[in-house]
Amino acid sequence: MILFDFEIGSSVMPTIIAPLRQRPAWNALAAHRKSISGTTMKKLFADDPARGQRLTVEAAGVYLDYSKNRVTDETIRLLLQLAGESGLRERIDAMFRGEKINVSENRSVLHVALRAPKGATILHDGRNVVPDVHEVLDKMAAFAGRIRSGDWKGHTGKRIRNVVNVGIGGSDLGPVMAYEALRFYTERAMTFRFVSNVDGTDFAEAVHGLDAAETLFIISSKTFTTLETMTNAHTARAWSLAGLGGDAKAVAKHFVAVSTNAAKVSEFGIDTANMFGFWDWVGGRYSMDSAIGLSTMIAVGPDRFREMLAGFHEMDEHFRTAPFERNLPVLMGLLSVWYNDFWDAQTVAVLPYEQYLKRFPAYLQQLTMESNGKHVTLGGQRVDYDTGAIYWGEPGTNGQHSFYQLIHQGTRLIPCDFIGFAKTLNPLGAHHDILMSNVFAQAEALAFGKTPDEVKAEGTPDWLVPHRVFEGNRPSNVLLLDKLTPAALGRLVSLYEMVVFTQGTVWSIDSFDQWGVELGKVLAQRIIPELSSATEPALAHDSSTNALIRRYRQHR
Ligand code: F6P
Repeated sequence: MILFDFEIGSSVMPTIIAPLRQRPAWNALAAHRKSISGTTMKKLFADDPARGQRLTVEAAGVYLDYSKNRVTDETIRLLLQLAGESGLRERIDAMFRGEKINVSENRSVLHVALRAPKGATILHDGRNVVPDVHEVLDKMAAFAGRIRSGDWKGHTGKRIRNVVNVGIGGSDLGPVMAYEALRFYTERAMTFRFVSNVDGTDFAEAVHGLDAAETLFIISSKTFTTLETMTNAHTARAWSLAGLGGDAKAVAKHFVAVSTNAAKVSEFGIDTANMFGFWDWVGGRYSMDSAIGLSTMIAVGPDRFREMLAGFHEMDEHFRTAPFERNLPVLMGLLSVWYNDFWDAQTVAVLPYEQYLKRFPAYLQQLTMESNGKHVTLGGQRVDYDTGAIYWGEPGTNGQHSFYQLIHQGTRLIPCDFIGFAKTLNPLGAHHDILMSNVFAQAEALAFGKTPDEVKAEGTPDWLVPHRVFEGNRPSNVLLLDKLTPAALGRLVSLYEMVVFTQGTVWSIDSFDQWGVELGKVLAQRIIPELSSATEPALAHDSSTNALIRRYRQHR
């Protein structure tokens, strides 16, 4: 029997963490779950009139109401105990100390250093990385300033009016999401586009109508080897040169790179003077606030970008220092574990009632699922519990007119995170009050539903009553912030990063590797020449893959 799965903590005093099912709180939670299975939120609220104020936390500009969850005080006590038994405190400290907590890649996890203020100290292999971070930020700011002011000229002497970020995964989703989220603050005289998919349509549409003489490409790739990004980068180079008379010297004025791989950047033909670096201790999906955010900085300007970093840092500090019972990411992370592992909920819906956050759920998909979609523990043992929930969502109120039906009356349990803002950036008549009334109404309807008696009392015929009943007791968190500012965005993203951290710690998995994306990449490399070969290739796949390849070759 494996008694201890792995060790965490400093080399001075390692903490031994028992496998999850052997942690006392886990078993207590399983028993507790049974004991409260008949309890409804309606009853919990009736028994405790102050519940709606009591089960709330406010920190770093975010107000979290978690009262509409299937929890009692005992649930929260046991979940907090589970966090303790899972070594969450030690693991947070280990992350901030720069320890190599990404064990399968033997790397530190220091995205928190990307938003540490000047003067802070965060060590990586004995070196303070904060000055390095600020050196890159200053270089980005100088460059962004030159582009925004028109001082940086393209090859023909025209100013840059269009910025196209070429990247995928963490080198795309963060920049796109942040651009959309902060659109209100962007330089409207400029055009920003994003190319990620290797589908040529993505590139073709992104450059549609753009003048190459006014277009800057930011090739964003941590590794500078990613097939999609390199394919798009070469296409961008060809498009750019074709529009600029074919002079290869034009590349210097129309291409910059964001990467950790200087050798590959040079090989591509970009002067490393025009490269913005970051480090292997920043995971791709945790990199939107590194140089990967260059397009964001050009769009909103260096000052706004720094405000965003300050928002991130505020939430980081809250996570690092707040007691767990008042710690937003810890509470949200534990609640999601509660539903994932004790209530068989497979998904979490993230529902921003803010149009500018329309790409936030897509961004969270990579953050949460690439991080916690893991089937072995840090020690390499097959887990015997469910890990990473499926995150998905759409902005409200659009979702209400499509998939909310299933959330309200379907057979599956879908915990929801509603995100709303007290103030709108675009005050227009009654729009914002109407929008926010829907946040409160949806959370209320999910929690309390509508009984058969209530439906009958409305004069509904008996046969129709079952169709119109809302069972209620469906959980949600409501997150309220003041206004969607760059700082608020930073706080929100950090909040979810640390939720992921909390979940991963309880599940004892490595939230910072992504080996699961490798196999498909390798197989695609093998299939590419089989698709393009002039002669019939000898195929040695399974019969299905062989037949699909043959059919594609016949019809391409
Ligand atoms: O394939 C997954 C992945 O490695 C992500 O983790 C990463 O964000 C993305 O690819 C892009 O990688 P890169 O920035 O190295 O091009």
